[in-house]
Amino acid sequence: MKDIYILGIESSCDETSFSIVKNGIEEIATVISSQIDIHKDYGGVVPEIASRAHVKNVTFVLEECLLKAHMTMNDIDFIAVCNGPGLIGSLLVGLETAKTLAWLYHKPLIPVHHIAGHIYANNLVKRLSFPLLSLVISGGHTELIYMEKDYSFIKLGGTLDDAVGECYDKVGKVVGIDYPAGPMIDKLAHLGEITYQLPIPLNDNSYNFSFSGLKSAVINLVHNEEQKGNSINKENLCASFQHAVIESLSKKMIKAINDYHIKNLILAGGVSANLGIREKVGDICESMGISYTFPNIKYCTDNAAMIATAGYYAYLAGHVADYSLNGKSSMELE
Ligand code: KG4
Ligand code: ZN
Repeated sequence: MKDIYILGIESSCDETSFSIVKNGIEEIATVISSQIDIHKDYGGVVPEIASRAHVKNVTFVLEECLLKAHMTMNDIDFIAVCNGPGLIGSLLVGLETAKTLAWLYHKPLIPVHHIAGHIYANNLVKRLSFPLLSLVISGGHTELIYMEKDYSFIKLGGTLDDAVGECYDKVGKVVGIDYPAGPMIDKLAHLGEITYQLPIPLNDNSYNFSFSGLKSAVINLVHNEEQKGNSINKENLCASFQHAVIESLSKKMIKAINDYHIKNLILAGGVSANLGIREKVGDICESMGISYTFPNIKYCTDNAAMIATAGYYAYLAGHVADYSLNGKSSMELE
């Protein structure tokens, strides 16, 4: 069978990225231009600044990716682009680039849901096995997704308010950790002990999550201690916070594993780089006799390799778009 080369494009938030993936499984070249340094001073991503930075970067990142792969656009079979969910101005930059390339070089245009991309980042580590359960934990999403086969998604539950990554970033702000705070909180948590009493969010029998109460509990705790003139032990606070997050995620995950007789589990999204979460999820899967895969650390956060990989399976499932394809800031994974 002829090899298929997919060009993936990701620009939904603050990373401009292009990647070339062969047959949905083998990464040829990936380039990621991150805007973290630009947004750091604002404590989060500023949408208007993000779109402008994508416009500035997009041609250079594409050129670098093709150079790295020793390929030209003529070697590409089709173009996969993330068309949502995400920041609309940012999405449109990647989308217009994809449409222009598809028209100019007569290539099929494949729309890819951002979360499908995060899920398929695992396919670059090990071919997905079905049926599977994906715990999606990112800056914008916290969801349990059940998949019976490739590119078929059933949402079992999700967050009712803040996403888990958003919660890490907001807690980071209160304790003086730069955006994105997740990696540093994870590091400090490993140095501390669980000494602060924090609520386990939405400790019920559903598949849903809630993180705004936990965030408020941390903010109130810090303010109360400050008012009393007490100093906060950052390591212990991070350990206590991370413990509450892990308890909430694992309780819902175990319920879904049991209810759906799951044999394969994957993590997806930026927060799946978290070592505490990986450790706990690995332990749970081993004790339950389940096979599990985590994405490569460098492809936990946004990148185009995951979009190209997902794009291959989206194409096989018949998802081909015309030039009216538009970006969507919110969009269900179906
Ligand atoms: O998946 P992603 O790039 O963005 C969305 O699609 O939403 O995830 C970014 C999020 C940020 O909130 C960041 O703080 C979090 O992932 N993150 C982490 C870790 N590394 C990144 N959170 C916890 N622990 C980490 N090690
Ligand atoms: Zn993402």
